[in-house]
Amino acid sequence: MTTFDILFKAASAARDKAHAPYSRFHVGAALLDDLGTVHAGCNIENASYPEGWCAETTAIGHLVMGGGSRIVMAVVVAPRIDLAGTPGGRFCTPCGGCRQRLSEFAGPETPIYSCDPEGRHMMVLMKDLLPAGFSLETER
Ligand code: THU
Repeated sequence: MTTFDILFKAASAARDKAHAPYSRFHVGAALLDDLGTVHAGCNIENASYPEGWCAETTAIGHLVMGGGSRIVMAVVVAPRIDLAGTPGGRFCTPCGGCRQRLSEFAGPETPIYSCDPEGRHMMVLMKDLLPAGFSLETER
């Protein structure tokens, strides 16, 4: 299995745990840290809609609590989004808030994969996912 396969599997298993009764949009994320540990998460919604959060955010919580420090690779699994003019739909990329949260622990060259449940995917580097992002540190 490739690293991508391992993370895709972990993100898919996390997605099966999504608590998304309001949007019914189930998302899973898996993060590989610099020690080789995988941290996964799902989106967790709430009856007060704005209080729900994304799969990436759950996974980051697990990374921090698991003693991880840097994200080396991230994989997000979600349905493709039907958009007029995009045959087959668009891959689900992390929301703005999650881009900022990922960039806290990722480097500019960290690959972020957006996958559909079948494993088709696209990859965007962190620096392209959050260009001109806010940071108090020069190396990010
Ligand atoms: N969501 C994620 O978990 N990750 C993303 O990258 C995009 C959106 C969740 C938030 C909400 O629970 C649902 O998908 C619909 O927006």
